[in-house]
Amino acid sequence: MIRIDSVTKRYPDGTVAVDRLSLEIPDRSITVLVGPSGCGKTTTLRMINRMIEPSEGTILIDGVDIQKQPVNTLRRGMGYVIQNAGLFQHRTIVDNIATVPRLLGWSKDRARGRARELMTRVGLDASLASRYPYQLSGGQQQRVGVARALAADPPVLLMDEPFSAVDPIVRKGLQEELLRIQEELGKTIVFVTHDIDEAIRLGTMVAVMRTGGHLAQYAPPAELLSSPADAFVEDFLGADRGIRRLSFFTSAGLELTTAPVVALDTTARQLAAREAEIAEVAAPHLLVTDLDGKPLGWCAPEDFPGAEPGRLLSFGRPFEFGKDSLRAALDCAVLSPTGWAVAVDAEGRAVGVASQETIGEAIRAAHAERRKADVAG
Ligand SMILES: Nc1ncnc2c1ncn2[C@@H]1O[C@H](COP(=O)(O)OP(=O)(O)OP(=O)(O)O)[C@@H](O)[C@H]1O
Ligand SMILES: [Mg+2]
Repeated sequence: MIRIDSVTKRYPDGTVAVDRLSLEIPDRSITVLVGPSGCGKTTTLRMINRMIEPSEGTILIDGVDIQKQPVNTLRRGMGYVIQNAGLFQHRTIVDNIATVPRLLGWSKDRARGRARELMTRVGLDASLASRYPYQLSGGQQQRVGVARALAADPPVLLMDEPFSAVDPIVRKGLQEELLRIQEELGKTIVFVTHDIDEAIRLGTMVAVMRTGGHLAQYAPPAELLSSPADAFVEDFLGADRGIRRLSFFTSAGLELTTAPVVALDTTARQLAAREAEIAEVAAPHLLVTDLDGKPLGWCAPEDFPGAEPGRLLSFGRPFEFGKDSLRAALDCAVLSPTGWAVAVDAEGRAVGVASQETIGEAIRAAHAERRKADVAG
């Protein structure tokens, strides 16, 4: 565990970049420092590997004051990744990644072997090994930066806005990759960003900082969204925090109905037998599936049977029941032309449908449940 204990950084010109900051950064999880430009994120991160020395306070790793460790030993245990990757332009990709193992005295072959292994780990094609950084896209360079930081297998990764220079789609891919790597390798990651959505997606714990190097709130993402500490945090979280909070509620508890779900080969007689059941859930349309149970589209009851699959109303994007959140379910319902969301299993087969009202009830129930849990402890 990294413990930042009442640390202040005052630069020679008098700027207080970090002001009596205290944080406990848990092992084997991602802790995000987030806040507006100039609030002291980079300064905090760099004090952890002593690229910057604090003016006051101490930083302890597993109980040991980092001031009492030789800088080289300390840094060997910490990979460092920055925006634009900071690669050596005159070295090939494989040799960029092999940098630290080489410094540690590994043979060239062994270091390159390790580098190739890491390329696969971060999702880089082996064919890129002998290229130079300028021959890679921004997103690929960022992956090389992560691989290089992982090369000596350090327990800690420090990452300073590593994904902010790439477009949103590539960025999402890199974030997913990082979550996967963290799950597989169990690194302790301290991640700096000014993007609150990135913080919420990646962080196990999120430290919101405000200008002047003050800690505004330190909490898990769901708690930030449900109970921002003050107006600054609330403002920083943005307008739709209620909706975003729904992404932490599972759709597993949602009450689905299969009453209006009909396979394409259902006969008029079979449908008539289900009339009461369908009427009871008041679904305005039938959800027609193929013979494998995969949804095809919505159909007005009077047009079925005999509906042509090509002329059905689009069912939009379904959500995966139990895996996707209530936010995804609500989004489906809102986007659906019928106002009903379609739930599917992992194979894409329809497992039921839910109205906006049903989803609204599930949201209320989830909130009540959460409040009860909060009160309990
Ligand atoms: N060497 C320095 N000398 C004086 N002031 C500095 C120095 N480095 C940083 N600062 C100031 O310290 C404050 C915090 O800077 P820091 O780089 O930690 O911010 P940041 O949160 O990382 O910002 P950004 O999101 O823009 O990267 C800023 O006001 C900055 O101008
Ligand atoms: Mg910075």
